[in-house]
Formats: sequence, structure tokens, C-alpha cells
Amino acid sequence: MVNLFLAPMEGVTDFVMRDLLTGLGGIDQCVTEFLRVTDKLYPDRVFFENCPELKTGSRTRAGTPVFVQLLGGHAEPLAENASRAAELGALGIDLNFGCPAKTVNRHDGGATLLKSSNRIFDIIHTVRKKVPAHIPVTAKIRLGFDDPRVCLENAKAAEEAGAAWLTVHCRTKTDGYKPPAYWEWIPKIKEQSRIKIIANGEIWTVDDFKRCAQVTGCQDFMIGRAALRNPYLFSQIKQIDQDTKYQPIRLLPGFFKACEAYLNEDFATARTKQWLNQLRVTDDRIQSIFDEVKILKKPTEFKQKLDQLLT
Ligand SMILES: Cc1cc2nc3c(=O)[nH]c(=O)nc-3n(C[C@H](O)[C@H](O)[C@H](O)COP(=O)(O)O)c2cc1C
Repeated sequence: MVNLFLAPMEGVTDFVMRDLLTGLGGIDQCVTEFLRVTDKLYPDRVFFENCPELKTGSRTRAGTPVFVQLLGGHAEPLAENASRAAELGALGIDLNFGCPAKTVNRHDGGATLLKSSNRIFDIIHTVRKKVPAHIPVTAKIRLGFDDPRVCLENAKAAEEAGAAWLTVHCRTKTDGYKPPAYWEWIPKIKEQSRIKIIANGEIWTVDDFKRCAQVTGCQDFMIGRAALRNPYLFSQIKQIDQDTKYQPIRLLPGFFKACEAYLNEDFATARTKQWLNQLRVTDDRIQSIFDEVKILKKPTEFKQKLDQLLT
């Protein structure tokens, strides 16, 4: 059976987006945007902001489990925060070893850790020891910082440290987000692993998914950016509702409303524009809608125009 994960994407797959996308079907598991841990234990408020689903059993309204993702370079504070997230109800803790952002790497978190399998082991092992045994601790890596070959020892370190599963974004930090994703590393990792490996990177269409499945031999896949271009991709892969005429643009007014209820209308305007900016590349009509609304800064004007163009 195929399992599909919605990728964590900071500034994109927040609570509102997770709720909307999991409501469309096909997604088995979500991960929050990363919460960066330096040296202190966050107050509960911060965990609830990062993962409002903690208040509803760590699941979206559709019932999809949400893991809390932590990022950082210091094992002890990561373990403290992971333990607190578990106490607050997190169904699992995911550790991010893939973030390419300069500020994150300068502070010794994210992809820079891929240079040392010992540190990956130490962090996962320390977190694993601190979090109750029934709560899975998982990890997400890139192939390496600049050398993809290190994925083998890093994957081994993650498994030996007690990771329940491992997501592999099949590019190095140096590759950034440039296609292709090097899925062919996954069978090499799988050959030496007993834990579940989740394939991630460059799945944009059902055909990409099929090729990725063929190359990797995986049953578990994580999809990120394509979720905005085609929010129905997950259900299409799972072959649910094949007869539906998919019109992602129709989701925008509801999304605006949900963002407004969650925070405010400025946030709703920014996020809806952000989504429209992704959708426009899929369709000329959406491109022209984007062109008309992108300059509108006042939320009421933006929303009015959007509604008018969509009727
Ligand atoms: C805007 C953006 C934000 C991201 N934020 C995170 C994050 O918070 N944590 C994480 O592990 N990965 C993050 N990623 C990486 C994605 O989870 C995923 O690994 C990457 O986009 C490759 O998958 P894709 O080709 O399906 O998009 C982010 C990616 C993007 C584009």
C-alpha cells in the first residue's frame, strides 16, 4: 500500500494549509514546519502555534496525524523540546537535517549536520532516549551537504540511533532545489536499512510518482511543492475521485476565509497571493487572474476582485 506524506514547508504548509489539503484526501501523514531550537525550552504557546493540531489529538480535522518537526544542532535542548512536545500530545517528533537556509546553517542546524554522521547519531539518540518509547522519532535528510555519498553512513547513523523512519530528499544542500532529484540513491540506502525509507523530491505528477516508485522501490513518498500546483495530486495518486473535475483555483476563496479566521486579512491576502503565484504556472486563465489581483494590497479590494474574477 502506498503512503503519502505532505512535506513540511516553512511559510507554506501551516495549520490552515494542512487542514485544507488533508481535507481533500489522499494524505496519510503531515509534518509541521520546522521549529528551530537553540538552547532553551520553548513555552507551550510556541508548540501550539507551530502545531495547533496538538489541541485535537495531533491530527488535522480530516484525522491525519501531524508530527512536530524540530531543527537544531544541539542534542540536549532538542531532546528537552521534543519531550515537551510529546507531553503536549505530539504523535511523533521529526528531526530536520536538511534545511539549506543560510541563517539556519550558520547557527549549526539543518543541512550542515549532514557533514557528520556522529552528530546525526548523537542528536537522534539523545532525543530518542528522552521521548517516551511509544512516540516515534523520525528524521529527514538530504543526500549530503555537497557529497551525496554520505547519505549511506548518515542513514545508517539515523537507524542505529533509533529513528523509526527516514525521509530522504534526494538532493544535496548544494543542489538546492534544482532538478533532478537523484532517486537512484534510495535503493542503495534501502539495501542497508531495515527502517522505512520515504522518498522525497521532484514528484510533480502521477507519472513522476510512478517513475519514483519504480526507481526507488519505495511504498512511502513525501510531496512538497507540487501540493500547491495540484492539491489533488495525492488523491489522484491514490486513485480516489478520478471523475472529479479538478479546479484548484476554486479552493482559494475558502482558503482566504480560513486564513483570515486563523490570523487576519493581511495574512489571508499574502497567503492567497502566494498560492495563486504557484497555480498560475498551470493555467493561462489563472495567470491572468494573478496579473489582475497581484497589485491589490488592500485585503478587501483583493478579495472582492478575486471573487469577481472567479464567478
Ligand atoms: C518553501 C519551502 C519551505 C520548506 N520548509 C521545510 C521545513 O520546514 N522542514 C523541512 O524538513 N523541509 C522543508 N522544505 C523541504 C521540503 O520539505 C521538501 O523536502 C522539498 O521541497 C523537496 O520536495 P518537493 O520536490 O516535493 O518539493 C521546504 C521547502 C520549501 C520549498
